[in-house]
Amino acid sequence: MANKYKIAVFISGGGSNFRAIHQAILQDKMNAKISCVISSTEKAGGLQYARDNNLPCYVPAREILGDASRFTDFLLEKMTAGNVSLVVLAGFLKKIPAAFIESFSGHIINIHPALLPSFGGKGMYGRHVHQAVIDYGCKISGATVHLVSNDYDAGPPIFQKCVPVFTDDSAESLAARVLEIEHEILPQAIASFANNQILITGRKIEIR
Ligand code: GRF
Repeated sequence: MANKYKIAVFISGGGSNFRAIHQAILQDKMNAKISCVISSTEKAGGLQYARDNNLPCYVPAREILGDASRFTDFLLEKMTAGNVSLVVLAGFLKKIPAAFIESFSGHIINIHPALLPSFGGKGMYGRHVHQAVIDYGCKISGATVHLVSNDYDAGPPIFQKCVPVFTDDSAESLAARVLEIEHEILPQAIASFANNQILITGRKIEIR
């Protein structure tokens, strides 16, 4: 349908958040459409799912991924072709070029598997995050959907949700608990953008 809110989903790994978004769309939980999938690698678990579901997907060549200017041009071309309004980083592990962030300012979101600003920043991805939470002795962790800025995991939060951390947790058991809530709040955030409910004032983000 022409009036659907068009999103791009960027993936690198298992793709479970991407699948959760697609399932929420199929269940009519948001007035959105995935018009483009970008994967940083042919090995990403979500890529086959995208192909099986006939979603337009692209894997930039390594030379493009490694060159900020070419990567920006590549992304801008795909976003324009897909008429994309919102870019969703769903476990995307490559650095997004500053020029692309500038072009989509306020319209790029990321999911991080901890309660930012704790346990974020460069090198804080995957099991490293959960192991650091456990090693610190935290009693709660969670997930954060935030706007993307030029610094890693530093943009303002849009949605955050907690989970308990148990004394016998491993990084894997905690990751699984956090992933469940990621699958709730990322589609919820996208639906809020699609419904034009997001009001951004500096670092304060209101869901109207
Ligand atoms: C998630 O934990 C997400 O928070 C992090 O990378 C992981 C991606 O998982 N940024 P998946 O690829 O969506 O399964």
